Amino acid sequence: MWNFPLLPDRASTIAEQVDALYWFIFAVVTFFSLIILVALIYSAIRYRKGSKASRAGAHHENLPLELIWSLGPLAIALLIFVWSSKLFIDMRVAPKDAMEIYVVGKQWMWKIQHPQGNREINELHVPVGKPVKLIMTSQDVIHSFFVPEFRIKQDVLPGRYTTQWFQATKAGTFHLFCAEYCGTSHSGMIGKVIVMEPADYEEWLAGKTGQTMSSGGEQLFQQFGCQTCHRPGAGQRGPSLEGLWGKQVKLGSGALVTADQNYIRESIINPGSKVVSGYQVLMPLYRNQLSEDQVNQLIEYIKSLSAQEGKSGL
Ligand code: CUA
Repeated sequence: MWNFPLLPDRASTIAEQVDALYWFIFAVVTFFSLIILVALIYSAIRYRKGSKASRAGAHHENLPLELIWSLGPLAIALLIFVWSSKLFIDMRVAPKDAMEIYVVGKQWMWKIQHPQGNREINELHVPVGKPVKLIMTSQDVIHSFFVPEFRIKQDVLPGRYTTQWFQATKAGTFHLFCAEYCGTSHSGMIGKVIVMEPADYEEWLAGKTGQTMSSGGEQLFQQFGCQTCHRPGAGQRGPSLEGLWGKQVKLGSGALVTADQNYIRESIINPGSKVVSGYQVLMPLYRNQLSEDQVNQLIEYIKSLSAQEGKSGL
């Protein structure tokens, strides 16, 4: 059988839609390029210098024709705009029930951590048929997380989180590339996404589980003395963190921010940047004291404080 693959395999729910849009744009471009090319060659030959072809009846204006070639392309461009915007939004907004996995890029490797505690380098294990949301950051320069078979690519930036979600449609091993030039070994910053049947994935998770991310975060919370200020009750100097996750926070300036990964990360690294209304900046900067992995663990811990809201604890 003739095998001439132009595109990588399709292995995610979004892949078919990305390809459909791609081929549509390709067809539009090819169609108009051919019309122009054929007309160009025909005219160049027929009306070449010295040819006897009649030049009588040349048009200088033609309103219907001008309307067609103005409004037609406008309609096609708008169709592509609406279609790709819809697809872009579908790719950006993860389903609520997506499982979350943390990704840290660094020169020159991908460090992955599952909330259950499993860590991997240059490998990402995921179950087939489940939405997966990657929460990604970089500990040095800009990288880009690219899985061609899933048709996903997202820049991974230092100093903030970006997210990307996908749902794999078949088990197997797929390429993971860094798609942003990031230094000497950029081309070596490659890995594998290993898509497993859900039962196999559960087994894989269970086989390697060490400390969960949130319990690792709790340990850091004690170790760095966070609880001395963030414990509710007498002598409380910092805002309570229970039930914080996902809520709106009122800042001293009156502005509202959502307590998400980016906000919590910023508040750990540079506590003075967005101070909660009614509190003073007493907290030291933790810039350079915590690795990105540790910040991620603290975020998972703070998240867990909201999941078990109402229980005793901090
Ligand atoms: Cu990381 Cu290129």
